[in-house]
Amino acid sequence: MTLLEVRNLEVTYPGGAAAVRGVDLSLAAGRKLGIAGESGCGKSTLALALLRLLPAGARVSGEVLLDGEDVMTMKWGQVRAVRWAGASIVFQGAMHSLNPVHRVGDQIAEPILLHRRATAAEARDKTGELLEHVGLPASRASAYPHELSGGQRQRVMIAMALACDPRLIIADEPTTALDVMIQAQILRLIEQLVAEQDVGLVMISHDLAVLADTCDRLAVMYAGRIVEEGPARQVHEDARHPYAKALSAAFPRIGDPASRFAPRGLAGDPPDPSELPSGCTFHPRCPEALDRCATEDQPLRDAGPGRQAACVHMGAPGPGRTAATEDEDARSTT
Ligand SMILES: Nc1ncnc2c1ncn2[C@@H]1O[C@H](COP(=O)(O)OP(=O)(O)OP(=O)(O)O)[C@@H](O)[C@H]1O
Ligand code: SF4
Ligand SMILES: [Mg+2]
Repeated sequence: MTLLEVRNLEVTYPGGAAAVRGVDLSLAAGRKLGIAGESGCGKSTLALALLRLLPAGARVSGEVLLDGEDVMTMKWGQVRAVRWAGASIVFQGAMHSLNPVHRVGDQIAEPILLHRRATAAEARDKTGELLEHVGLPASRASAYPHELSGGQRQRVMIAMALACDPRLIIADEPTTALDVMIQAQILRLIEQLVAEQDVGLVMISHDLAVLADTCDRLAVMYAGRIVEEGPARQVHEDARHPYAKALSAAFPRIGDPASRFAPRGLAGDPPDPSELPSGCTFHPRCPEALDRCATEDQPLRDAGPGRQAACVHMGAPGPGRTAATEDEDARSTT
């Protein structure tokens, strides 16, 4: 069974910001899906919606099936259990997510005590194991967050995310605040953990090169929609949608400072989600726009084997992501 299947997910914030619009995704266990897009395209909103972590007042519709069960219709007790044992999120900015007045070991042990009903000694042992697993000595359990470097804190966050052996890890910009060397170490660590433990990974970043290097498949978001989806390297090296092309031109190589600070071909900003342009929402910035793009919305269309892009220049409307295509891709890339 597909680990994660998202169907027609929509999120609108109070005030009418349509931050996620009709997103379909699917992910098998042991696979890694990257979600890319500029700031404000709806990546974090999508991540939060998967575990019902959105602020009160946000309107959500659609289905989020985790191992076949719809998170959207679960009772709160079940959702809480899922957040620890089913899926967990690693957020950007570990300093803000860790409690500054508690030792990191106690923070890792807390969910183990609460959700695993472990004894204090068992939780301590498991915490030590988790720290070693993420490349930190078990003795660092007694450190406070401010005593650790940025990379070490991010390792602690990953240890916390792994504490209850989740089936799915959602990593929202897990390395963005780190320097390039540490970023590469953390990415390798995440990859290794996914491979060893057969969990699914949804990794979010504005940096297409990072995602192409880490993930199997890539979905590019623009104005709340997935505009291109396909095998990660193909999307990065040979994007079909004009927005995905611009984004991959902006991030040709991981950590390339020149390209990072001078993105090519990306004039302007993504639209305000409460005032979306008509037709294809990318048309005001698109170098390939036709007259009809200002009025015609484009669904995802066939863009080659296992690929889709929402652009008038593509072929016929695509089938949408299905568990079957995901499994096919999983077979073809292993
Ligand atoms: N609580 C909120 N209330 C109203 N609008 C919000 C709220 N949170 C986010 N938004 C809006 O929804 C849109 C999507 O935001 P989101 O945080 O999902 O983007 P993102 O792709 O994660 O961006 P970034 O790369 O900067 O993290 C933005 O336009 C943002 O202003
Ligand atoms: S549909 Fe038109 S505006 Fe939208 S990406 Fe394609 S060419 Fe550009
Ligand atoms: Mg975000």
